[in-house]
Amino acid sequence: MPIRALSLPKVIGHRGAAEAAPENTLASFREAKRQGALWVEFDAKLSADDRAFLLHDDNIDRTSNSAGPARALSYDEIRQLDSGSWKGSQFAGEKMPLLAEALSLFAQEGIQFNLELKPCPGRARETARIILDELGHLWPAAKPRPLISSFVLECLEIARDTAPDYLRGLLLEDHPANWLDLAQNLKVDTVNIWDQMATPEWVSEIKGAGYGLLVYTVNDAARAKQLIEWGVDGVFTDAPARILAAVGQ
Ligand code: G3P
Ligand code: MG
Repeated sequence: MPIRALSLPKVIGHRGAAEAAPENTLASFREAKRQGALWVEFDAKLSADDRAFLLHDDNIDRTSNSAGPARALSYDEIRQLDSGSWKGSQFAGEKMPLLAEALSLFAQEGIQFNLELKPCPGRARETARIILDELGHLWPAAKPRPLISSFVLECLEIARDTAPDYLRGLLLEDHPANWLDLAQNLKVDTVNIWDQMATPEWVSEIKGAGYGLLVYTVNDAARAKQLIEWGVDGVFTDAPARILAAVGQ
């Protein structure tokens, strides 16, 4: 049974404010704050030279002006790319930020965050180790505790064993019969489930077991309201202003 006190927001900006701005960029986080989000979620991984930076996909094709697997590129190479123009010419020149740059913006703007460990294929262990170590150095313990989440069990094991003070979230894409065993073994604080899998029964089960419960990715205001009424603590959304208008902070 998780016992740590949780203070979760009802609305978390998914990849920043991914509907209006290029996901996982500083522009997206600024936009999330402008829309009223107190928290953002982002995806972090390692470049070929082990620098922690922000990107969702394994490949750079969808969100940059180049193509290929991210794990083959050094961060200097990644830095040459334009990760904003694909979303609109007003975002031309946005970069895939270093984790350090995102953290510095969050500190400056008072933004709380959920860091999702999203390793390149085959790089789970070093991704979790290096990123959690960097976070420990760059994010002062006196600041609000971040939530660390992952779909990758190996990453959550490393977080449990090496960074126990952070809040941790188990990300699930389906509804595994052994979800409670997983959550207990990984000693997570929250279970973060896919909207398509959310039912009133499963929500009650997760909340009844004492876990925080977050649902991704909810861009429809009526659905967000329904989930909160069922007892979900909060939702990840690409459109923070729309969802905040429906469910409040
Ligand atoms: O952390 C919530 C959500 O971001 C998980 O899915 O694929 O958008 O990273 P994905
Ligand atoms: Mg994510």
